[in-house]
Amino acid sequence: MKNGEIIANTRIQGDYYRVVFHAPEIAASAQAGQFVHVRISDRLDRVLRRPFSIHRVEADGSLEVVYKTVGAGTRELAQLRPGTVCDLLGPQGRSFTTPGDDVVPVLVAGGYGAAATYMMTRQAVPKGVLLLGARSKADVILVDEYRAAGYDVRISTDDGSLGGKGRVTELIDGVLHDFAGRKLRFYGCGPFPMLMALAKELRRTGQGGELSIDHVMCCGVGACFACVVKVKADTPEGWRYARACSEGPVFDLEDVYVE
Ligand SMILES: Cc1cc2nc3c(=O)[nH]c(=O)nc-3n(C[C@H](O)[C@H](O)[C@H](O)COP(=O)(O)OP(=O)(O)OC[C@H]3O[C@@H](n4cnc5c(N)ncnc54)[C@H](O)[C@@H]3O)c2cc1C
Ligand code: FES
Repeated sequence: MKNGEIIANTRIQGDYYRVVFHAPEIAASAQAGQFVHVRISDRLDRVLRRPFSIHRVEADGSLEVVYKTVGAGTRELAQLRPGTVCDLLGPQGRSFTTPGDDVVPVLVAGGYGAAATYMMTRQAVPKGVLLLGARSKADVILVDEYRAAGYDVRISTDDGSLGGKGRVTELIDGVLHDFAGRKLRFYGCGPFPMLMALAKELRRTGQGGELSIDHVMCCGVGACFACVVKVKADTPEGWRYARACSEGPVFDLEDVYVE
């Protein structure tokens, strides 16, 4: 457990916020795809921690999280002012791998998943592509940050309020066409149904990649089995349960079990 003093906690747009902690020890070793498990309050009904992807770290020890207010814990987090000290656990979980210099990274993010894939823009050498999907314009976040990092940002929304109308997986064919002859690797994070659709599409098109499966968590350290997801295994059923917090949240596409 480490303390993280809040340096800033501001609204980005709509229900989305950015909180910056001073957490030098965690920031020093954080990798793309890992998360911090944040104890938001000591109040009895909020003793459970909440997991958030590490969005960005800096050499000065700052660590950023971008979050959407969806329930009591995140709404309480949004109320915390600079100077508040939170108890942080991290960096937790398995990270994305860093692609070779000859590989173009294709990030595929749904909603707040864009917060998780952002660290790849700093770890991967060739600038890549971000395929960003959301229900509507209100859930399209961090576009300017990705563009400033040199990424080609392509957007789709379910209702067509920004970018193309449709599912984010429908943008994959365009990338395969535009980067024909180049080696690609896909890195996904977003809602579970989106990740399953992405896994099917990548298998259909013969692409490799990794998916961050952000299952609801409790202990965050592999002890309680609250976060299990199915992964492929040599069992009669063809799958086994894996703990998303400690064996994931990032899983190789080869291991992802699609029903
Ligand atoms: C590894 C990991 C990384 C995450 N990274 C981020 C992030 O960068 N930014 C961000 O905004 N959120 C992220 N989340 C989701 C975040 O942890 C939840 O939104 C948060 O715990 C909700 O807490 P709450 O008390 O506000 O809501 P609760 O009252 O606990 O729940 C409110 C609603 O949110 C749903 N919910 C809770 N946890 C999750 C989850 N893991 N995935 C989907 N729905 C959930 C509940 O089912 C419920 O419908 C991440 C989750 C995981 C597991
Ligand atoms: S949250 Fe407890 S084992 Fe993963």
